[in-house]
Amino acid sequence: MYDFEFHNPTRIIFGRGKEESIGPLLKDAGLAKVLLVYGSQSVKKSGLLDRVKDNLGRRGVSYVEFGGVVSNPVLSHTRKGVELAKAEKVDAVLAVGGGSVLDEAKAIAVGALAEGDIWQFFTGKEIRAALPIYTILTLAATGSEMNGNSVVTNEETRQKYNIASPLVYPKVSILNPQLTCTVPADYSTYGAVDAIAHVIEAYFTKKPGTRLQDRLVESIIKTVIASHNVILKEPDNYEARAEFMWTATLALNGLTPTGVGDCSFPNHMIEHSLSALYNIAHGAGLAIVMPAWMRWYSRQHPAQFERFADRIFGVQGAEAGIAALEKWFQEIGAPIRLQDAGIGADDIEMIADNAAGLAKLWGIDAVYSKGVIADVLRLAT
Ligand code: NZQ
Ligand code: ZN
Repeated sequence: MYDFEFHNPTRIIFGRGKEESIGPLLKDAGLAKVLLVYGSQSVKKSGLLDRVKDNLGRRGVSYVEFGGVVSNPVLSHTRKGVELAKAEKVDAVLAVGGGSVLDEAKAIAVGALAEGDIWQFFTGKEIRAALPIYTILTLAATGSEMNGNSVVTNEETRQKYNIASPLVYPKVSILNPQLTCTVPADYSTYGAVDAIAHVIEAYFTKKPGTRLQDRLVESIIKTVIASHNVILKEPDNYEARAEFMWTATLALNGLTPTGVGDCSFPNHMIEHSLSALYNIAHGAGLAIVMPAWMRWYSRQHPAQFERFADRIFGVQGAEAGIAALEKWFQEIGAPIRLQDAGIGADDIEMIADNAAGLAKLWGIDAVYSKGVIADVLRLAT
């Protein structure tokens, strides 16, 4: 066990109908006016947006609406949200939606209290303040509801970069699994792939040992697989949606990499270029990158891959474990090769060039040069 600090300040309120507590929560926190951030259609279609507005109204919490967040949120729209939050002098930001809505809301919360352009924080400037953030999650996948990350794409430079700060952990996140029952099969699948990706990054890149963390990760992966298999057959199955939702939160709330020492996020580094350049879903990009990266990395570090094969799929040998994961990705409808997402091999150098920028920003460019990233991507053809 290596030394670590663990502090997760987000209060989670989990269960059926729990979104009804949002008005009282904001009122009790002394927040009079919020920026209500949401996406395109789903919260209107489900009636959730109207219910939230009605709930706020009844408690005397005023709100300014800011809809139109797209999947893979973009900088231009985020900037508009920052302007609106400043002009309206809101006290807090309330995000109602999936990870994209939460991420953009977090960036707006930072920009609202900062001078200058919000993008400077995505390229390394320290965050010193943020408005309080509250969330009602409608899609389980990213863990954004209980972490201090936000990922936004700069459409001009085609960079998909993130901020990471203790100041953007939500104060409260409301998780009602019923709200996720309308998530279509494809995005449910991308969420399952994403949750697995979140735990395997440290599992494979850390030093050997740390049995507790290995077992936590293995439990998360097995629960994702079991619950998602039920969700695909029975989208309205509350227990499966609930189990998956909390599992996805735990997959990226800081718990699993505690005490493992150094680890890195190379699959995410490479994937962010795929979703930045081709606007594909994050989980779809990960399903393409992960088996390729695993094949590349397992050559140097076979032991943990042998363990993975045995514990997750009951098969022997690193390649058998990777093949089993890849097969499951295919069964649940995820792409597993670049061409499955319409990306040609001719683009590999350009993708690697884009990803090399993020590798540098994350300080992993000594291992992940442009050439190495291209080698990994070639294993995805
Ligand atoms: O815009 P609407 O109409 O709401 O549609 C959304 C969107 O089209 C829809 N949706 C959401 N909830 C729904 C629903 N449809 C039906 N019923 C519901 N209950 O689903 C589509 C995808 O939503 P999105 O929020 O984009 O998905 P997800 O939660 O997977 O978020 C993906 C974004 O999060 C980033 C990704 O890179 C990507 O930009 N990530 C954020 C992380 C973080 N903050 O820690 C970590 C991750 O690694 C990831 O990078
Ligand atoms: Zn992810």
